[in-house]
Amino acid sequence: MKLIKSIQLFTAFILIVQPFHLISAQTNYCLDAIDSIDLEKRMLTPCKYVKEAKRSISKREDNKNMFEISDFRCTSKVSDECEKVKNTFETAGQIISDAFYFNTPVLVNVSFFSFCDELKDCPNTTVHLGAASPKRSILMGDDDDLNRFYPQALVKQFNLESHPEFLPSDITANFNTDVKWYFGGKDPIKKNELELLSIVLHELIHGLGFRSNWGPWVGAEGVIPYPIFTDGSNKTLIFNGFIEYCFDKYLIHLKSDCNHKSIPLVTKEFNKFAGGPGSKFNTTTEFILELKNSTQYNYYGKKMLDITTTAKDLGFQTNAEDIVILETSYKLFSQGVSVVHVDQSTYQNSSDFLMKPSFSFGDTLEKIINDFGDSNYGPIGPKLRKVMETLGYESKNNPNPYRPSEPKSLGFPLTTVSDVS
Ligand SMILES: *[C@@H]1O[C@H](CO)[C@@H](O)[C@H](O)[C@H]1NC(C)=O
Ligand SMILES: *[C@@H]1O[C@H](CO)[C@@H](O)[C@H](O)[C@H]1NC(C)=O
Ligand SMILES: *[C@@H]1O[C@H](CO)[C@@H](O)[C@H](O)[C@H]1NC(C)=O
Ligand SMILES: *[C@@H]1O[C@H](CO)[C@@H](O)[C@H](O)[C@H]1NC(C)=O
Ligand SMILES: *[C@@H]1O[C@H](CO)[C@@H](O)[C@H](O)[C@H]1NC(C)=O
Ligand SMILES: *[C@@H]1O[C@H](CO)[C@@H](O)[C@H](O)[C@H]1NC(C)=O
Ligand SMILES: [Zn+2]
Repeated sequence: MKLIKSIQLFTAFILIVQPFHLISAQTNYCLDAIDSIDLEKRMLTPCKYVKEAKRSISKREDNKNMFEISDFRCTSKVSDECEKVKNTFETAGQIISDAFYFNTPVLVNVSFFSFCDELKDCPNTTVHLGAASPKRSILMGDDDDLNRFYPQALVKQFNLESHPEFLPSDITANFNTDVKWYFGGKDPIKKNELELLSIVLHELIHGLGFRSNWGPWVGAEGVIPYPIFTDGSNKTLIFNGFIEYCFDKYLIHLKSDCNHKSIPLVTKEFNKFAGGPGSKFNTTTEFILELKNSTQYNYYGKKMLDITTTAKDLGFQTNAEDIVILETSYKLFSQGVSVVHVDQSTYQNSSDFLMKPSFSFGDTLEKIINDFGDSNYGPIGPKLRKVMETLGYESKNNPNPYRPSEPKSLGFPLTTVSDVS
């Protein structure tokens, strides 16, 4: 048996065979996770606005865990393991609630099952630990004229009177019972055990919006922002633009030798493709062929591939003008690993270790925190706090977080229209 020293954390992107989904023009657009197993399988879905009575946000109750388990599935046969998993989520929710002020509970749908039994994904050289992702992401308009997807967990905190309808859970989280988990307690951790708490915390942060819409969506030779489509007349496809995730607003090219230091400027270049959003295509194949033949793809797509596969070349610039170096050291762009983690070599021995891409067996959070941690918020390090504050989470240091507004028109109507036939 091979001893696994360290394992990657996947936010579980599986090869996307059919990357785009068609919908008819309607109210607003949401990007929903549509598969309970492959959490990265997403679909653009029309989502209607609903009105909500303005809540008076009461003063934050200190020490209240704002994370709730909305649904819990646990197939473990090991005595009281399910209870331990629940307690771990309780602890993780408490730790995150201590670092940020949530005014609305964050609902997590938790499944703890054997990936080997149910998915035929059995441990060999790598073992998949688990994954979490926002169940729904909602299109919002940012102050730099781009629309971006925001996770439902964050949009809820905006306390809007009218908003696209929310799904019953904000975050879906799957964890693998085939891993030898350490739940804390009196016995010390064994060399082949992994502490569940650190992985749950890590995954919940992904579910709160530490993720990206950049990826090799149409082929390995280019990294591009996520394109969306709606149905046009006569079975045509209306291209409605390349849409970033809220996290992507703050990406910067670190070793910049060109004038596109801010990555959203690259997205703006991409959105000039084919005359911009609103252009029509007969099929997705036609879209892909034309894109691959464009300067956007051949210049910027390759440039972004280069940046996202060169160590320490991409950063996240926080609202405090701090720079967090992101993980771009993998020579091949690794979906769910590249970009959406902090640079392992820079942060693994620092108080900002939590969002590194791989964890070692036999380490406890307590030990890492003792060695490198932050005295105030434990595993939620200072740079990670700034990243989350920049995305829009409120905290002691960030009492008036940034708020996006309604999405700007993309070339399709965003207010309710009768069916365009
Ligand atoms: C939780 O996920 C399961 C599996 O996808 C689903 O059947 C269930 O409806 C979800 N529950 C909630 C409250 O979201
Ligand atoms: C190990 O896992 C990888 C990736 O899931 C798979 O491609 C490979 O066939 C597996 N090897 C064995 C011996 O099961
Ligand atoms: C749709 O197709 C019909 C018949 O093929 C044609 O008359 C009509 O002009 C087309 N509409 C558009 C918007 O292209
Ligand atoms: C799209 O389909 C129409 C009608 O079938 C055809 O006239 C047109 O040339 C096609 N466009 C491209 C770019 O293939
Ligand atoms: C690709 O671009 C070249 C030059 O711009 C053009 O001549 C050619 O028709 C294009 N091919 C496709 C499939 O669009
Ligand atoms: C991090 O610390 C461990 C020991 O705690 C050490 O083995 C490792 O080399 C360090 N890594 C870096 C990049 O400093
Ligand atoms: Zn991760």
